[in-house]
Amino acid sequence: MRPVELSSPQLRLDQLRGDDAQKVFEYCQDPVMPEYLARLPWPYRLADATDFVTGYVPAAWAADQECTWAVRDSTSTELLGVISLSVPVAAGAARSSSIGFWLGAAHRGRGLMVEAQRLVLDWGFSTGFCDTVHWECVAGNLASARAARKAGFRYTGQGPAGIAYRDGTHPPSWKAVLHATDDRTPPAGWPAEVVGG
Ligand SMILES: CC(C)(COP(=O)(O)OP(=O)(O)OC[C@H]1O[C@@H](n2cnc3c(N)ncnc32)[C@H](O)[C@@H]1OP(=O)(O)O)[C@@H](O)C(=O)NCCC(=O)NCCS
Repeated sequence: MRPVELSSPQLRLDQLRGDDAQKVFEYCQDPVMPEYLARLPWPYRLADATDFVTGYVPAAWAADQECTWAVRDSTSTELLGVISLSVPVAAGAARSSSIGFWLGAAHRGRGLMVEAQRLVLDWGFSTGFCDTVHWECVAGNLASARAARKAGFRYTGQGPAGIAYRDGTHPPSWKAVLHATDDRTPPAGWPAEVVGG
């Protein structure tokens, strides 16, 4: 698949470039990253960031495995974070993707990931790329859960993570789903600490 660019008045989601590797490296030194990002190598080296930006991401687009975007302010080229949508697997009649995201610590707290999710979900649903998107986070990751709820995801419960973490475990995780036909009003039914923030 050829990479696509998405934009709104606030954000531009485009391709990661080689010169983004330094920012990816710096942002991923934040100790919450290995806690919450299952597949992040740790310790995280500049070489890991370079491999991600110039190797994994373009290869995953080309091989129809995963669509990963750089999150940037519409008025700047600075990298703020990353969002990705897996290429759907058939689940019965559904085309089911999963979403993942992070922001550099300096760029959190402005609702940017709610807007980035909106762009990616609108693209996925409107193009027929997928019709169902799954989200999950380590139980207790309130920022991620609140961002997912605000994007419209409906909580489906807690269970072992769907993917193995770097130590091979599947930590207790909160899970949610969004269908193409759902309205995006933040739903009831999430754990009280997520709604109560
Ligand atoms: C998840 C993430 C992208 C959300 O981005 P964000 O900019 O923090 O999101 P928002 O500003 O929209 O904040 C979401 C909500 O969480 C709250 N929040 C943020 N950090 C929090 C924290 N450490 N503890 C509790 N609540 C927190 C915010 O106040 C906000 O609450 P509100 O919706 O009631 O206003 C970002 O926190 C991040 O990159 N975290 C580290 C990586 C990660 O966890 N990725 C997701 C893996 S599943």
